[in-house]
Amino acid sequence: MSENAVATLESPRLAPLRAATFHHLGIQTADLANCVSWYQEFFGCKENWALDRFSELTTSRLPGIVKLVELRAGGTRFHLFEREGEGGEAPDPGSAQFQHVCMEVGSPEEMSAWQRHWTRLYESGRFHFTLDEPATEIVTDEDGVQSFYAFDVNGLEYEFTWIPEAAS
Ligand SMILES: [Fe+2]
Repeated sequence: MSENAVATLESPRLAPLRAATFHHLGIQTADLANCVSWYQEFFGCKENWALDRFSELTTSRLPGIVKLVELRAGGTRFHLFEREGEGGEAPDPGSAQFQHVCMEVGSPEEMSAWQRHWTRLYESGRFHFTLDEPATEIVTDEDGVQSFYAFDVNGLEYEFTWIPEAAS
């Protein structure tokens, strides 16, 4: 295979990207207790963990975030969270959307590669993006979990994450 075959998708001398896999759905609610109960009773979810302190990146994306709960049912995870103040109101019935979808990748190197891949398409001029925003930096939390966020062409938000074995 010529070097150029790989370079079209990835920067020179890096392997082509392995597929990212679905990790969790991010769901904003105006009533966390109500939402957690419903997901527990409807989907049979169990609580994995809860968080009430957040990174700067999270609070810049979601000002006023007060609590996040990870629920799990089988292989599916839901991240339910509540915000205070502006952005914390319940949406009009019928206009609520999933807040973000999280995709998991296999290594820190793949995180960087996915972020560069996103930036390359964004800067190529071949696509119209309804939100004119670059991908965020990759941040690492105290458990070593890495994340960055980027929007698709419609303005739907994706999180990419790498979770070291110790934190999963
Ligand atoms: Fe998330």
